[in-house]
Amino acid sequence: MRAGIVFVAAFAALASSSHSATAEARDLDDLDGGIEAAPDSESVETRGKYILYASGCITCHTARGEEGVALAGGRALETEFGVFRSPNITPDFETGIGGWSLDEFTRALREGIAPDGSPYYPAFPYTSYAGMRDEDVADLFAYLQALEPVERAVPPHELGFPYNIRMSLWPWRWLYFDADGFVPHREDEESIARGAYLVNAMGHCGECHTPRNWLGALQREHHLAGNPDGPEDRTVPNITPHHADGIGDWSRGDLVFFLQTGFFPDGDVAGGGMGAVIRDNTSKLTEADRDAMVDYLRAIDPLEDQ
Ligand code: HEC
Ligand code: HEC
Repeated sequence: MRAGIVFVAAFAALASSSHSATAEARDLDDLDGGIEAAPDSESVETRGKYILYASGCITCHTARGEEGVALAGGRALETEFGVFRSPNITPDFETGIGGWSLDEFTRALREGIAPDGSPYYPAFPYTSYAGMRDEDVADLFAYLQALEPVERAVPPHELGFPYNIRMSLWPWRWLYFDADGFVPHREDEESIARGAYLVNAMGHCGECHTPRNWLGALQREHHLAGNPDGPEDRTVPNITPHHADGIGDWSRGDLVFFLQTGFFPDGDVAGGGMGAVIRDNTSKLTEADRDAMVDYLRAIDPLEDQ
């Protein structure tokens, strides 16, 4: 079974598409007044914007094209289970997360549980965000709550049976959800530990680069060893330092440059999901953080392609 991102919902009928199509394209700076993003700032919003970039929320939560309003949802995420539509995460009370508390937000992000107690589909990569630290989640929440709210209802997911039954996620969670997330501890060097956190918890790189089993769960023993059935029907390459199959032959500088610019060593440009990851996430990070990601990737066990 091909496994892109996973599952879907019939939380149908909640939102009608008739409301939704009116907003014009607006980017993040329109909603936050052009605030900077920096990891070590005194300002909680400035730190929070950095976390938003590092964890790649923008790509999934912004509709493509003319109607795309940063973080106001409506992006169609096509998977073999059907089409998911990302929700509005601006602080609008009716259509976004304006009424949420930090506890509710933390539970959604790290445990995949909605304020009403129902489970989220793992198309929302809470399975990776489970490893995010309290302070980073709090900074991110403060930043999101300070945005200009956008009123925009998102149409429901369109999922096939039985994936449209949200309750069917409970056994899946019981089998596969690891509440500690997956940040293999490499405390041997500060940069590698930071890189492990950026790659695994925030950057959720494994959600595309790790193969999945037939139920859509990540195969942790093949962590980052490539995914023949990635999103958008693409093969996602092995990014462990294996020489023949992975990035073992890339120089450190080539990898850092790739994450900053999207250019492969041969001058080609990264496409598909990776182009968006570079645009919305890795190009926005500090040099030290890109270096840390590369240090981590070069330090993990080399694994063969699956
Ligand atoms: C790979 C795509 C993807 C990424 C990346 C992503 N999300 Fe989501 N998110 C989704 C989908 C799909 C849902 C809906 C899940 C469902 O209905 O079960 C969702 C749901 C949510 C919800 C619940 C909203 C509600 O109204 O119930 C919140 C809050 C949220 N995401 C915040 C975030 C934040 C913050 C980030 C970055 C740290 C993020 N998401 C990154 C796809 C994504
Ligand atoms: C949405 C899915 C997705 C996510 C998330 C993702 N990648 Fe990728 N990645 C891809 C795809 C697809 C390619 C192949 C791009 C191409 O060939 O144009 C790729 C290519 C790469 C390559 C080049 C490898 C090679 O041998 O060609 C590196 C390095 C890489 N990704 C690192 C990362 C890191 C680090 C992260 C986390 C910050 C990440 N990726 C997150 C989909 C993804």
